[in-house]
Amino acid sequence: MPRIFVLPEEVASQVAAGEVIERPASVVKELVENSIDAEANRIEVAIARGGSGLIRVVDDGIGMDRDDALLSLERHATSKMRSGHDLARIHTLGFRGEALPSIASVSRFRMSTRPREGLEGTEIVVSAGKMESVRAAGDAPGTQIEVRSLFYNLPARRKFLRTDNTEASHVQHQLLLQAIGHPNIGFILIRDKNLLFQAPPAKSLGDRIRDLRGPEVLEELLEIEPAPANGIVVSGFIGKAGMSRSSRAEQVLFVNGRAVENITIQHGLREGYHTALMKGQYPVTFLFVEMDPESVDVNVHPAKREVRFRDPDTVRNAVSETVHRTLAADRRRWTQSFRRPAEAPMRPVSPEPPAQTRVVNPQPALIPQVEQFALRRDWAEFHSAPSLEKSVPLTPPNPVESPVAPPAIIAGSKPLFEFKLLGILGNLYILMESPDGLVLVDQHAAHERILFEKLRSQMESQGVPTQRLLIPLTVAVTPKDYDWIATNAETLERMGFAMEPFGNSTLKIDGIPPYFSTDNPSVAVRLLVDELRSMTLTTSRLRMGEDAIAKTVCRHAIKANDELHPAEVENLLKNLMTCELPYCCPHGRPTMIQIGYSELEKKFGRRV
Ligand SMILES: Nc1ncnc2c1ncn2[C@@H]1O[C@H](COP(=O)(O)OP(=O)(O)OP(=O)(O)O)[C@@H](O)[C@H]1O
Ligand SMILES: [Mg+2]
Repeated sequence: MPRIFVLPEEVASQVAAGEVIERPASVVKELVENSIDAEANRIEVAIARGGSGLIRVVDDGIGMDRDDALLSLERHATSKMRSGHDLARIHTLGFRGEALPSIASVSRFRMSTRPREGLEGTEIVVSAGKMESVRAAGDAPGTQIEVRSLFYNLPARRKFLRTDNTEASHVQHQLLLQAIGHPNIGFILIRDKNLLFQAPPAKSLGDRIRDLRGPEVLEELLEIEPAPANGIVVSGFIGKAGMSRSSRAEQVLFVNGRAVENITIQHGLREGYHTALMKGQYPVTFLFVEMDPESVDVNVHPAKREVRFRDPDTVRNAVSETVHRTLAADRRRWTQSFRRPAEAPMRPVSPEPPAQTRVVNPQPALIPQVEQFALRRDWAEFHSAPSLEKSVPLTPPNPVESPVAPPAIIAGSKPLFEFKLLGILGNLYILMESPDGLVLVDQHAAHERILFEKLRSQMESQGVPTQRLLIPLTVAVTPKDYDWIATNAETLERMGFAMEPFGNSTLKIDGIPPYFSTDNPSVAVRLLVDELRSMTLTTSRLRMGEDAIAKTVCRHAIKANDELHPAEVENLLKNLMTCELPYCCPHGRPTMIQIGYSELEKKFGRRV
C-alpha cells in the first residue's frame, strides 16, 4: 500500500495559493502588477467588504486574445519568461505564472479581456479553480478581473482575515505603493462606492507624491540627483535631516520598479543618515534603486516582496553614498540662506494694497521692542555688544578653539555667514533673523552637534586623547568578545581606550576617553563592545565610535538654562554653521527651526 500520492491539481493550486494569496491586498497586488506589466495607462480598483466580498481591477492594458486568456489560468503559464535562463534577468513584475490560477482557485473569479486591436473580447468564469464558462464578450479593450468571495472554499483561511477596515487599509497601502512606483499610470481606488483615492497620471515622482501625500510632505523631502556608479542608479526622494517616523510605514523602497522590503537598503539608509536620524526612528524615503536585472534575484519570496542582491555591499554603499550626498547638498543650500547682506529687500505682502504691502524692517522694529521689555540685565548687555547692532559677520572658526571661547573674527577675512542676532528666549533659544524669517536655535542641541563633530574629527585624525585611570581595571570578557577586541584594537585606541590583553580572555584597561563617563567602567566597556559588535560588520570602523560619542556628548554640552555671554552665543553659532550637519544634533533632533515670513503672514492674517 503506497504512502505517497500525487495531489489532485485543485488541491495543489490551493496549496500554491496559500503562499501567494494571504489576504485581499495580495490579490490586489498581483492583479495590479499584471496590469502594470500589460502596459496599462489607467488602473481602477474597487473593493467591497474590505476586499473579501469583491475585488475588481480594471485596466486599459494590452489585453489577451481567447487562447491566451484560457492559458493565463493554467498554472505555470506565463508570457514573461521562456526558459530558466530568463529567470536570471526578469524585467517584469510577474514571472512565475502562478497568480491568476492561485486567485481563481480560492474565489469566484471572472475575467473579461480584449486585446487593444481585437474586435471582441473573452469572458471566463471560474469558481474555486473549476472553469464554469467561456464566451465572447464586448467589453472595452484591456482586462477586467472580478474576484468575489475570497477564500469561500477555504473557511480556515477566511477566519484569518481581519476586520473589513483593516483589510481595506492593507489594500489602500498596496495601491499607494504601486502608485508611487509608477507615477505615469493613473490609479483609482473605490471602497464600497466611495472614492478612497485618485491619482491622475503624473509627469514626475514629485507630482505623484504631492498628489498622494500633500504638498507639506513634499516640502520636507529632498530630491536625489542620481549619480550612477557601479551599474547602480539610486533616485527618488528622501526626508531631510531630522525628519523621521517611528515606524517604517513611510519607507518606500523599489528595486527595478518592484516595491520591496530589503535589509541591505535599510542598512544603507541608516548609514547614510547616521546622526541625522534619531535612535529608533526611520527615515521617510521614496527610494528607487535600478540595476542590471542579472544582479538581483527576484525569485526569493512567495509574494515577491523581497529580493536578494548578488553584491549587497555595492548596493548598500550606493544607497548610503546617495543619502550622504543628498543631505550634504541640502546643507549647502541651507547655509546659503544665511548669506545675505545686512539690509534685506522689503518683502511685498499680498493681498493688502501697495501702501501697506511691506513687512516692517525687523531691525528697527524688533530691537527697540525688546528694550522696552528689557526685564533682564543681559538684554542690555546684548545691545551694548557692538557686533550685535549690525549684522554679525562670522568667519570660519579656528578648528582648535573651544566653541565657547571669545569670538575670533579674523581681520580682513571674508565673512562666511551674515545674519542678525535678535536675542535669547528662555535661556535656551537663540533668535536670529534669516532672509526667510525667524530662526530659533536650541543652544543645547547646537552645542551637542558641535562637540560631536569635534570629537569625531579628532577620532578620525589623531585619535581622541586617553584619560589614564589611576588604578587600571581588569575586565573578563567572552572569548568571542576578546577576539573582536583584539582585531579592533586600533579603532578602540582611536576612540580613546587604552586596553591590552591580560591573558585568559581578560583585558586590562589603563585609560578611557574623556567623553566616556561612567560609574562602572567594566560594565560600560562590556556594553560598548556588545554594541559595537552588533553593528554590521561592514560598517566603517571609525563610524563605530560615533555612536559612543553621540551618547555621551550630551553630558558635556551647555544646558538649557546656562546663560551665555553674547560672545559665546556668537561663537556657538559660528561653530554650528561650519558643522557638517548643522541642523540636527547627533541624536537626530533639530538644532534649529525656521518660521518663515509666509508662516508669520498667515498667522497674522496678512495672507490666507
Ligand atoms: N491584466 C492583464 N493584461 C494582460 N495580460 C495579462 C493580465 N493579467 C495576466 N495576464 C497574462 O496572464 C499571464 C499569467 O498571469 P499571472 O499573474 O498568473 O502570471 P505572471 O504575471 O506571468 O507571473 P506571476 O505569477 O509571478 O504573477 C501573464 O503572464 C500575462 O501574459
Ligand atoms: Mg502576475
